[in-house]
Amino acid sequence: MLPRLPEPGRVAARLQQVQVSRLYSNFGPQVRELEERYADFLGTSADRVVSVTNATLGIEGAIAVTDAEHWAVPSFTFAATPAAVLGAGRTLSWTDISASDWWTDVDAARLLPGSGAVAVAPFGTGFDLARWPEVWRSRELVIDAAASLGASLQPLGELPPTWAVVFSLHATKVLPAGEGGLVVFGDADRARAFRSWSNFGFDGRRESMRVGTNAKMSEISAAFALCSLEDWEQERVEWQKAHAMARRIETQLGLGTVPRTAEQLSPYWIVELESPEQTDRVENVLEQQGIGTRRWWFPTCHTMEGFRHLPVPPLPNTDDIAPRVLGLPMFRDLPAGDFDRIAAVIDSAL
Ligand SMILES: Cc1ncc(COP(=O)(O)O)c(C=O)c1O
Repeated sequence: MLPRLPEPGRVAARLQQVQVSRLYSNFGPQVRELEERYADFLGTSADRVVSVTNATLGIEGAIAVTDAEHWAVPSFTFAATPAAVLGAGRTLSWTDISASDWWTDVDAARLLPGSGAVAVAPFGTGFDLARWPEVWRSRELVIDAAASLGASLQPLGELPPTWAVVFSLHATKVLPAGEGGLVVFGDADRARAFRSWSNFGFDGRRESMRVGTNAKMSEISAAFALCSLEDWEQERVEWQKAHAMARRIETQLGLGTVPRTAEQLSPYWIVELESPEQTDRVENVLEQQGIGTRRWWFPTCHTMEGFRHLPVPPLPNTDDIAPRVLGLPMFRDLPAGDFDRIAAVIDSAL
């Protein structure tokens, strides 16, 4: 992945506004405008969207403002997800993913009362809120949609009050700010509590009303994020072109792919190979040709040293799928000739 933020010349006017305002953080004008613009973009109201330093802290805070002590969390995710739950001072149990769409598979009937779940959108996929049965509407649900800003999403104004959706604006994501995140809540009071959590627990006065932290987005990050959003139509066309080339190669080589929604302009090109051995072979042959890959979400979190202390239930789908997933090179200006070369090398490896 070769990240690309808006050109510095493009951001200069906003940085000048920051300099004139002499407000560099603490919910200044750039951050407020960003929250308003994203509320429109995501189909909700600005009092439910809060910017944050990064998505990891977004997940941590979305959990910290609930009363749920225990969370079901998939092991097939980036290490940020379980780290955020533990960082919020809560406990977690690993849960499996569904074999058909790779989403977190958690049965509300088996959740203990007072516990919640983190559902991870696999590799920037979009989602329909109706995918969760009615019973979830009163349960605590945090959707880790870190890479899903480029997916077609239904208006998030429909989120139930106990739900939150977290997006990342990291440099490697679609619509990047460098570092940054957004949390969309189903309830304006939750959003207010989160804003307070992200600002030392202050709530109007400079006195902690809850245990908080410093997770505020700076005005400078917000200026980059706003320029990315303003350039979205152009960025979107570039991602569409790159993904169309990836799709063509998948079809040509008969590669399995991440289950996805129709328009998923994610920053990933994920393929699913037939076996762990075939995945190793493709990875090695690409590496020999100087082509980088990433074993996205492998090793799985439950096997990582940092999470070894947690009990591990059977996770058959995670154990089956994770060692067969390979992230291929993907960025919006990846040249067509490079796609052809990647295809030829994978073909030879297969
Ligand atoms: C599934 C998932 N969750 C959380 C994160 C963390 O996002 P951030 O880098 O903004 O903290 C990532 C980052 O790639 C991710 O893929």
